Amino acid sequence: MHEDDLIIRPARPEDEGDLAVLNRAAWSPLSDVAPQPPEEDGVFDERHTPEQFLLALLDGRVVGYVRQVPATPLASNRHVRQIQGLAVDGTVRGRGVGRRLVEAACEAARAAGARKMTLRVLGWNTPARRLYEGCGFVVEGSLAEEFLIDGSYVDDIWMARRLVH
Ligand SMILES: CC(C)(COP(=O)(O)OP(=O)(O)OC[C@H]1O[C@@H](n2cnc3c(N)ncnc32)[C@H](O)[C@@H]1OP(=O)(O)O)[C@@H](O)C(=O)NCCC(=O)NCCS
Repeated sequence: MHEDDLIIRPARPEDEGDLAVLNRAAWSPLSDVAPQPPEEDGVFDERHTPEQFLLALLDGRVVGYVRQVPATPLASNRHVRQIQGLAVDGTVRGRGVGRRLVEAACEAARAAGARKMTLRVLGWNTPARRLYEGCGFVVEGSLAEEFLIDGSYVDDIWMARRLVH
């Protein structure tokens, strides 16, 4: 894939169908703590709005997304944003799409005045953990055995990256 072939842009309301298909296809116990969403489920609601999402498009096809939101509604916490959703279509993984999405989310947060980006990732999700490390995230803490998934207790890893130096 050539760098220029990939377009990253904010989501629009009409992207909901493509996002829902991608979200459902990317679901796996490696990355998700909630059950796979049913086919009829949408993506957008009062808490999940299009402007929170950045999409990756290859040849006009939605192949990935990242969602970033304020970490909390508190004014004292306004400088912190959190990635709450990242997925890349299985057919184009390993080609730099995930990295571009994470970088774009950090850039958008920095441009909006944020100083720090945080995220949570399951301990056994090695692809995502390597990706985040490669993008400059470090582990700030972990909740041991926080989730019981398919009969295994899995750690909840908290990672963060400074957006200003
Ligand atoms: C995690 C995910 C977004 C990565 O997307 P991707 O487009 O394949 O990632 P990239 O090609 O940009 O890879 C960037 C880096 O991530 C790491 N990485 C990606 N896939 C990996 C794998 N299977 N094993 C180990 N490291 C991997 C590598 O360090 C890679 O850098 P490199 O290419 O220089 O080696 C993708 O695997 C996915 O959608 N997984 C399911 C959903 C998910 O886990 N979301 C995160 C929830 S916290």
